[in-house]
Formats: sequence, structure tokens, C-alpha cells
Amino acid sequence: MTWDEYFAAWQAWTHTHGGRMPPVRDQGRVTPLGRWCNQQRYLHKAGRLDPAKTARLIEAGFFAGAPAPDRAARIVTDLHDLVAEGRRFGTVYADPPWLYDNRATRAAAQDHYDGMTLDALAALPVGDLAADDAHLHLWITSPLLLRAQRLFDAWGFEYVSGLVWEKDQMGMGNYWRINHELLLLGVRGQARSFRVKNLRSVARFPRRRHSAKPEQIRQMIEAASPGPYLELFGRRTAPGWTVFGNQVQTDLFDTDTITVPAPSRQPETTPVQTPLAETWPTQATGG
Ligand SMILES: C[S@@+](CC[C@H](N)C(=O)[O-])C[C@H]1O[C@@H](n2cnc3c(N)ncnc32)[C@H](O)[C@@H]1O
Repeated sequence: MTWDEYFAAWQAWTHTHGGRMPPVRDQGRVTPLGRWCNQQRYLHKAGRLDPAKTARLIEAGFFAGAPAPDRAARIVTDLHDLVAEGRRFGTVYADPPWLYDNRATRAAAQDHYDGMTLDALAALPVGDLAADDAHLHLWITSPLLLRAQRLFDAWGFEYVSGLVWEKDQMGMGNYWRINHELLLLGVRGQARSFRVKNLRSVARFPRRRHSAKPEQIRQMIEAASPGPYLELFGRRTAPGWTVFGNQVQTDLFDTDTITVPAPSRQPETTPVQTPLAETWPTQATGG
């Protein structure tokens, strides 16, 4: 279909559906019209939409139905841009490109990306970007565990707890064969609890591509910790998240990054059963 035909189809759809936007997925499948709508929004946001088309879409009220700004995904390549904008985040979720002393582990990681020294990581302006009351969720591997303290100190968080991601496959290790990673939790200010009380500290999710962390854990963080959300060293966009990294992938048709509506939130003080609970760990196996 041509752009004009999609435009006409969108107008007809939204007219007959009380001004709503077409769904991106229907029974699990991406719809062509929903995909086209996402594409227009993406191009518009990136400043790459033809001006004449932009004008027609604005005039027709197309962008009035765009997702709330707090659910839009954003990518940044320099954290100082966020500092300059005065942005502050209730949650920082970080998966740093740690440098390993062990040659085999270092080589395995650096097949995929460059590492950063502890000094360089500590120098990132994370303390300026975190809200006064904030959580830090920091991934760390067993050999580097004790180095995390340096980042908690540099970024202005107090270590308080953590999660074990238990993987389904055994990995490398000169000592224990490692099949877990650790997500340490730091807090600052008054953010001294989770807003849901049903999250267990051992999560069993399958291992995916090198270094990739389970999306379920991001969702657990969203349930537990306050927004706005900043991910450091992410590799994919996510609705409602500002993502910093040099390998962030976006896809014109990655509809999830643009259109997923904000989940309704329970009051912060009320423990809730979240809708995702059944996909989360139900067996506490930690000692
Ligand atoms: C451990 S991986 C993160 C994996 C990610 N959590 C995921 O689930 O896919 C670290 C990431 O940091 C990125 N990175 C390395 N040096 C960087 C730098 N100086 N600035 C921004 N990102 C960097 C790497 O390219 C890599 O994508």
C-alpha cells in the first residue's frame, strides 16, 4: 500500500473507533496499519518524516494519540546530555562492560564489546542523574563482586540487597562452574523499600545471547522501583526507559518500544500481586 492509502486507512479506522489508534498486534501478530502508525511516530520523533506528511498527520490529529511522554523510549549516547537537561531518575539499572582480569573471560566478553575500567565507570555522572530518593540495580559477576562497592560509593548509593539470576546452563569458571549472575541493589534517600512485596531473591530464567539479561527482570524492577527509569549499557529500547549504551538496537518495527501503554500502578505503599507474578520465581532457593 502507498503512504496515502495507509493514511486513508488510518483515518477510517480512527474515525470508526472513537479516535483510538489501531492496535499494533492482533492475536499476537503485528498488524500492517499498526506497524505503519509506529513507523510514522518513529520517523517523526527522529526528525526523519517528510515535512508534508508530518503536516498532514499533525492536522489530522495523528500525534495526539501518541503514547504519554513518560512511556516513550529514548536512547542517549552521552550521559552529560541528560545532566544538562536536569533529568533525574528514580531507578538506575546498570549492566557495565566490566574488564576481567582472567584472560579467557576477558576475551569472551571483548568478542562482543569493549570494556571500561573501574575508574571510567566510577567517573560517569550517575550520582547527578539519580533522584534524591532512588534505587540502583547493578549487575555484577562473581569474580568482580567486591569491585561493586567502588561504584556504589562513587555513584552515591548504599548497598542493601540483591537478586540471583539462576541460568539454565552451566558457564565458565576456574572454581565453581558459574550458572548465575548477581543483581545488587543500592538505595539512596528515602527509597528504602520495594513498592511490591512479593518478589523473591532467586530468579530462574533461561540464558540468551552473550550478556543479555532477561526482560522479566526489567519488569520486576519496574514493579519494585520508582520511575523514571534509566538503563546504563542497555542494548535494546524499552517503553518508558531512557537507555544509554553504544550498542542500543532499535527497530522501526519494534513496536513494543513505542506503543505499550503504561501499566496502571497500585499506590506505592500497598503491597500488590502483580500481573507478572506467575512468570516470576516462586521458589526461594537462596541461603
Ligand atoms: C554487559 S553489556 C550489556 C548487555 C545488556 N544488559 C543486555 O541485556 O543486552 C555492556 C554494554 O556496554 C556497552 N559499552 C561498552 N563501552 C561503552 C561506552 N564507553 N559507552 C556506552 N556503552 C558502552 C557495550 O557495547 C555493551 O553493549
